[in-house]
Amino acid sequence: RKLKIIGMPMDLGQMRRGVDMGPSAIRYAGVYERLQNLFDEIIDEGDIPVGRPQVEVDPESNLRNLPLIAEKTELLAEKVDQAISTGSFPLVLGGDHSIAIGTLAGISKHYKNLGVIWYDAHGDLNTSETSPSGNIHGMPLAVSMGIGHELLVNVGNYAPKVKPEHIVLIGARALDDGEKELIKEKGIKVFTMHEIDLMGMAKVMEETIEYLKDKTDGVHLSLDLDGLDPNDAPGVGTPVIGGISYRESHLAMELLAESKLVTSAEFVEVNPILDEKNKTATLAVALMGSLLGEKLL
Ligand code: ARG
Ligand code: MN
Ligand code: MN
Ligand code: MN
Repeated sequence: RKLKIIGMPMDLGQMRRGVDMGPSAIRYAGVYERLQNLFDEIIDEGDIPVGRPQVEVDPESNLRNLPLIAEKTELLAEKVDQAISTGSFPLVLGGDHSIAIGTLAGISKHYKNLGVIWYDAHGDLNTSETSPSGNIHGMPLAVSMGIGHELLVNVGNYAPKVKPEHIVLIGARALDDGEKELIKEKGIKVFTMHEIDLMGMAKVMEETIEYLKDKTDGVHLSLDLDGLDPNDAPGVGTPVIGGISYRESHLAMELLAESKLVTSAEFVEVNPILDEKNKTATLAVALMGSLLGEKLL
């Protein structure tokens, strides 16, 4: 088993600077050391060169940093694509959640029916029409279904990357009206906080795995740290109270590890500027351990 770590230091998908330091924070929290014994080989590819571009709003679409995000996610897509082509499990470190546009563009060409688990307080299912903010980190899941601005939808030169019936949202508790409509229209599977409270995380994951396992040939985990409760993950730009706990999240990762379903992953929205002594990056690394097969005994 081989792992490739790819850093994507991008903060252009939203308005709080500092999330571009997420990959550094996660490396300082010891990602390499933590995963070392779980793989035959780990290569840290370093960071995609995002640079320090000027932040600007596209006057036509009202989307913040549209051309830059399209350009930089294209670079990420190529790197992720290469990792899979060389037989490695790609682990992408964000960066804000707009990077998922690139991650999915790189992954999905390797699978006919890619499954996606979106672990997040939000749906990230907005379009330029429904977005209340113009922030592209609120759009990557819609974009990956082929819905949204064509510059974003066509990253990787193909669309769509995922089918709605292959998506599962876990942890949702802040959805915009347009996102709710899209979820209903497309029949997307969602486990909101209500279902997690009611059923427990074990049952939620059992149903998620059952839902995806026969109809997909690979599953990508896109984990936004704001899916967790802000008490456990304070270093995020758009925290929402009442989230998934530390222990529930470990259980979710452990059950995914047991299922052997997950073929790629990304951990996004870690913002060390907003964090408490790198707590959120440290949590991200611990969750990666559980996801990738770490065992106590
Ligand atoms: N729904 C809000 C928006 O579209 C918040 C999105 C937050 N997304 C995230 N990846 N943290 O602006
Ligand atoms: Mn979120
Ligand atoms: Mn079952
Ligand atoms: Mn998100």
